[in-house]
Amino acid sequence: MQLRVVSDQPWDVPADLLAIPFTDEPPLDGLLAPLDRRTGGELRALAAFGELKSERYAAALLPGGECRAPRLLAVSAGAADSLTRQVVVRIGSAIVRRAADRKVRTLAIWLADLGDRVEGGAEAVAELLARGVVEGEFDPAGLYRAPDGGSEPSSLVELIVVAPGANVPALTRAAERGMVVGEGANLARSLANRAANDVTPEVLAQEARAIAERYGLSIDVIGPEKAAELGMGMFLAVGQGSDNPPRMIVLRSGEAGAMDSAGRRLALVGKGVCFDSGGISIKPADRMEEMKMDKTGACTVIAAIATVARLAPGTPLMAIAPAVENMPGPHSARPGDVVRAMNGKTVDILNTDAEGRLILGDAMVYAEKLGATHLVDIATLTGAVARALGDQMTGAFGTPQAWYEQLAAAGARAGERYWQLPMIDDYRKEMDSWYADFTNTGPAEGGLIRSALFLREFTTVPWVHLDIAGTAYFRKKTAYAPPGATGVAHATLVELALSGASKS
Ligand code: BES
Ligand code: MN
Ligand code: ZN
Repeated sequence: MQLRVVSDQPWDVPADLLAIPFTDEPPLDGLLAPLDRRTGGELRALAAFGELKSERYAAALLPGGECRAPRLLAVSAGAADSLTRQVVVRIGSAIVRRAADRKVRTLAIWLADLGDRVEGGAEAVAELLARGVVEGEFDPAGLYRAPDGGSEPSSLVELIVVAPGANVPALTRAAERGMVVGEGANLARSLANRAANDVTPEVLAQEARAIAERYGLSIDVIGPEKAAELGMGMFLAVGQGSDNPPRMIVLRSGEAGAMDSAGRRLALVGKGVCFDSGGISIKPADRMEEMKMDKTGACTVIAAIATVARLAPGTPLMAIAPAVENMPGPHSARPGDVVRAMNGKTVDILNTDAEGRLILGDAMVYAEKLGATHLVDIATLTGAVARALGDQMTGAFGTPQAWYEQLAAAGARAGERYWQLPMIDDYRKEMDSWYADFTNTGPAEGGLIRSALFLREFTTVPWVHLDIAGTAYFRKKTAYAPPGATGVAHATLVELALSGASKS
């Protein structure tokens, strides 16, 4: 998609469709008055008719009148006092989804008064809207359909950001950055949505190799033999139940051993369970198909390091993705098996369905062995987080608090929501084991907290854990996204890593 930023008045911009976001009730006597006049009062008439509902993301089409764009799309951004950066991204997506399958090759979006409503002003809005436009083009319907049987590829050729009186070069840079971040989110989504008979751990490793090649990252893929030499007993215990062997995928950018400009060697660690049947502690059949999405954390860190390489090449960063299939079979780990983690701790596997923490534990120990000084792990780890927070809020844990705050600040810049949960040490005793240092599960009550307490056993440096089990994918479409992978947290991880990019 081409991008153009223009400082002209919106009615002077030639495009197939001109989108006009508004907050609260459309300001027909204010900002929108000159435009309404050029529609011959059509905008006002639609508002009077009740068509311009201020329900967020609702959109109404109207003829362009004397505007150079033949059609206009008035889009509600909802109440101004609850407008967030996330809403701006979603407005971009909602516009594209509303225009999908229409004859729109050039789409213009007027920033209107959104620029006055978020920190960072017009530049921030241009970036977030452009990202939303790119994310809004993503649709998984064509994934396994023949091109002629599936949905039409998007016809969008050009995005025109309309910002009267703006600093065009600055807004262009911002919007370009937003498009690259959106493309990265879509890369994560396109991997995460793929089926488990398509994306095995080895296929995920091959995809990572192709991405490494394309963006100049170094890659190392560890198979079972090397993992055994390294002592990754938890990772191997999960992987051994499948005919598709496990892969520990390690991507790196920047000079070997170098710190980033924030004095960190940051590692992003993502859960890559290509299918989670539960193993011997098998899951019920209902919705088990969703467990092909259990690799979303891995897809997200792979995409994030690629995005950082595009935006700030050479930034020191690591992405580690332990990839396995959790299957029942004659070689599977059994409840009661005791395994030794890479850091020497022994674990009593009470429930083979608590597999994410096992593979992440070894991956984080390995990250530190490779020199990581700061860790963020991201995982579809617990059903409990989805029950507690739903699909709009990612659960987070972290220590020390100052490192968590860094992640939260990156999330705020990215327009993504995190809710911090406490690590309550008292709950650790429900993981005591007769045979090992601890078990991998305990009672359901406090289970979400305990999942983080378990992971903490495998870190010695500042660490944040993001549980995206609720937010990784939508079960139903919304105005701004199709069902399936959402790309959640990709932008946050990119922001966090870029805070260590050298300033040019
Ligand atoms: N992959 C699941 C968590 C999950 C559930 C992700 C629903 C997305 C949607 C994870 O491996 C799992 O099975 N967790 C168990 C842990 C329990 C056995 C302690 C859970 O949440 O039930
Ligand atoms: Mn599981
Ligand atoms: Zn899982």
